[in-house]
Amino acid sequence: MEESKEPKIIAFLCNWCTYAGADLAGTARMTYPPNVRSVRLMCTGSLDPMYVIKAFLEGADGVLVGGCHPGDCHYTNGNFKARRRVALLWEIMDALGIERSRLWLRWISASEGGLFAQTIREMVDHLKTRGTNPIKKQMLL
Ligand code: FES
Repeated sequence: MEESKEPKIIAFLCNWCTYAGADLAGTARMTYPPNVRSVRLMCTGSLDPMYVIKAFLEGADGVLVGGCHPGDCHYTNGNFKARRRVALLWEIMDALGIERSRLWLRWISASEGGLFAQTIREMVDHLKTRGTNPIKKQMLL
């Protein structure tokens, strides 16, 4: 069976902001591509970098980390911890041969359903230009 050409995105979303923003996009019937699977975290500060590496190794073409805007994290500075982890992950991705542009970090609040939908549209468009995750290609050989 042929593998789908549609990019697969795993989104790690903060419960208080981006997850609620995604929910708002859905309840407001905003349209965005169905390429994303969400994982709810209580805060992006609880994002274990291994979750992201595992997502790529298991075939994700892109990973989105969505958190509260700076100053709005419910746990004071979890989003800043996430930002440092994403910077570290970009370096690990270099070593693995995965382009940095496959991992996005975005601040999207609970009231920004439109921004969530727009982000997913932009990420899908971007990933279509990049093609399949190179790790996935190697695993298919
Ligand atoms: S509570 Fe949302 S990023 Fe920390």
